[in-house]
Amino acid sequence: MSHIIVVGSLNMDLVVRAPHLPIPGETVLGNDFQTIPGGKGANQAVGAARLGANVTMIGCVGNDDFGKSLRANLQKEGVDTTHILTIPDSPTGIAAITLDEDGQNCIVVASGANMKLTPEDVEKAFSQIEKVDVVILQLEIPLDCVEAAARLGQERGAKIVLNPAPARQLSDILLSQTDVLVPNESETSLLTDLPVDTPSQAETAAQALFDKGVGSVILTLGSRGALVLDGNSPATQLSPHQVDVIDTTAAGDAFVAGLSVGLGEGMSLVEAAKLGNATGALAVTKLGAQPAMPTQEEVSSLCNSLEFQ
Ligand code: RIB
Repeated sequence: MSHIIVVGSLNMDLVVRAPHLPIPGETVLGNDFQTIPGGKGANQAVGAARLGANVTMIGCVGNDDFGKSLRANLQKEGVDTTHILTIPDSPTGIAAITLDEDGQNCIVVASGANMKLTPEDVEKAFSQIEKVDVVILQLEIPLDCVEAAARLGQERGAKIVLNPAPARQLSDILLSQTDVLVPNESETSLLTDLPVDTPSQAETAAQALFDKGVGSVILTLGSRGALVLDGNSPATQLSPHQVDVIDTTAAGDAFVAGLSVGLGEGMSLVEAAKLGNATGALAVTKLGAQPAMPTQEEVSSLCNSLEFQ
């Protein structure tokens, strides 16, 4: 069983389904409203736990109902919440999510307590965690915490998986400590200033990211699958799975979870990325972030069905 530390965000997602996403200045009448556990870090933690990994999460919530509910949900999923701090004077992070009829979304995050995590908190937590194979990071917490976690993980010999979401400029040192960088299309464009509309553009952009000093790059391309580049061999294109899309929220988080579990179990980068690709595909077939993370059985069943085609 792989041991995974996720250092990242916990948000309560405030989700409204609407006929279409509003344009600036437009009011749209939505259908229904739901609060659903989310946050990129917590989604990735649940995703990895459902695939059988031993997962510890480091992060912060506020001392409020959303915080209690997010912690309880992680515990129910088997994630170790010992190192999730409760911050007295900050609200738990929330994400306002509008979802259209095609399952596409737009998201605004109010980070709240997520931004109260400190590098000292991360160091203290790492010192109390015995085993770590993979450290999963995203960018919804202070950047110095991401940098501390990458350094500490590397010192412990763990693989560092960085999902640069939401995108921002990253230091050379953080990039050099990253074993696998996993951006989506918009994050890739923002980080490279390059388009990713065609397969050859995606490969050029992946190469530009690789040249920044990361160990390898996996671009998640939504309905176009994913592109894996390890610098030693030509890029590998992973085809998308054909699924009925209900909600694309957290598809990338599911991909990162599957990839990380695969890496923790010693799979090659491409095999682990295939596990991520299947996990991400299944996540879009259900509503919400954490509730949509597929189980080990569901992912195995999708992968096995492909082997017989
Ligand atoms: O990646 C999806 C997540 O982004 C949502 O759950 C939301 O909380 C935001 O963090």
